[in-house]
Amino acid sequence: MDPFLLSLYLSSTLSILLLLHLLLSTCRRKLRLPPGNYGLPFIGETLQLISAYKSENPEPFIDERVRRFGPIFTTHVFGEPTVFSADPETNGFILQNEGKLFESSYPSSISNLLGKHSLLLMKGNLHKRMHSLTVSFANSSIIRDHLLLDIDRLVRLNLDSWTGHVFLMEEAKKITFALTMKQLMSYDPCDWTERLRKQYLLVVDGFFTIPFPFFSTTYTRAIKARGTVVEALRLVVRERREESERGERKNDMLGALFDEGRSGSGGSGFSDEEIVDFVVALLVAGYETTSIIMTLAVKFLTETPRALAQLKEEQEEIRAKKGVASETLTWSDYKSMHFTQCVVNETLRLANIIEAYLGAPCRTCMSEVTQFRRDGKWQGSVGAACQPSVYTPFGGGPRLCPGYELARVSISVFLHHLVTQFSWTPAEEDKLLFFPTTRTQKRYPIHVERRNITVSV
Ligand code: HEM
Repeated sequence: MDPFLLSLYLSSTLSILLLLHLLLSTCRRKLRLPPGNYGLPFIGETLQLISAYKSENPEPFIDERVRRFGPIFTTHVFGEPTVFSADPETNGFILQNEGKLFESSYPSSISNLLGKHSLLLMKGNLHKRMHSLTVSFANSSIIRDHLLLDIDRLVRLNLDSWTGHVFLMEEAKKITFALTMKQLMSYDPCDWTERLRKQYLLVVDGFFTIPFPFFSTTYTRAIKARGTVVEALRLVVRERREESERGERKNDMLGALFDEGRSGSGGSGFSDEEIVDFVVALLVAGYETTSIIMTLAVKFLTETPRALAQLKEEQEEIRAKKGVASETLTWSDYKSMHFTQCVVNETLRLANIIEAYLGAPCRTCMSEVTQFRRDGKWQGSVGAACQPSVYTPFGGGPRLCPGYELARVSISVFLHHLVTQFSWTPAEEDKLLFFPTTRTQKRYPIHVERRNITVSV
């Protein structure tokens, strides 16, 4: 291009960008947003945020701004003005007023990949109805009477395949995927579920990318993988619908969706597309979250030998009382895991998995990072010591996680079988990162050794 034309082009582009930035700043002033710093035009403070969350200690990003502007401050990240709240009362208020004063939303990369009928994106009455259906499927009595048996069996099935060296995060993901597939559509692990899981990984990889195929090959791959997942699930739904019409019913989430469709919407029921989106989102919601907590619980316990010893003592006592080595865990065994619950609480607190809450008119991030410090206290940890308004790892209000009890039970059963069947040492040093999601850098590789007690499935 001619140098004159090129410089004309560059300077006019720059002027337009600056003009837009000025317009945005004026809008922000008019909205009377909390104090803060918007950083560079368009990029805002995105790079500072990413570099903080790519480290083991993201807290200074928030601490520094809380010191300068107070617990509620505005910044500009990922292309949008964003309000951060490190104030528990404000966070509780936002959660309770979801759907009234605030509306949750997700970046378009995530919403495109979840599908428009996913529970996470639903609003209003439909959301209420589907949320309570999900709760009724994963409540304590269903877990006690039906799901616990499968959780116990599938965790042991996975542990039985362990040899000398495993990537714990990979195995935890396989376990949670198997559990979710069983609970949603009665599938046991097989080649088909493993192929589906691999496609799922590609979908999840696309969540935190720029949602334009031209900019991101990860996003393009994720969209393609979503297509494959949807196609596979559509076949399952179609087959199950035919079975259901013949009067056959399985005791799983798909069964509940067909029943609800018949009774809840004037007989019209849910379309295959609605059911598939719903299932896609449930798989995503339970998969990453539960598996990272399983992994981090083990990592934190390994780094805190006294806590590990206490957990072992509790779990070995339960195992010893049961007498027969192959007996599966019962609801009362789970209920007697008091210290294990402290471990789960503390891990949820430190992992701080789901931090962002996206609301109108501009994005709000609720951060618990500044509320807590890693202090090595496990006994009586946060669940007991903190008010519910401060400690909200499962969210709150109308969007309170419907899988919170299911996740606790799965993690506890996993820890039980792990510590009673194996001893382990880290194979390499691994680092905790918080961006794009909470994870460890190397998938937490460990050397495992089977202990004397043998438990068969
Ligand atoms: C340790 C594991 C888990 C953590 C930390 C967790 C955390 C959360 C949080 C914070 C929310 C609220 C998000 C918001 O406010 O928009 C949420 C929502 C949700 N969770 Fe979980 N979750 C976990 C496991 C599970 C499991 C096992 C399931 C499977 C049933 C599940 C299903 C869902 C669903 C469907 C929603 C959306 C609820 C709605 O929008 O109405 N989660 N989860």
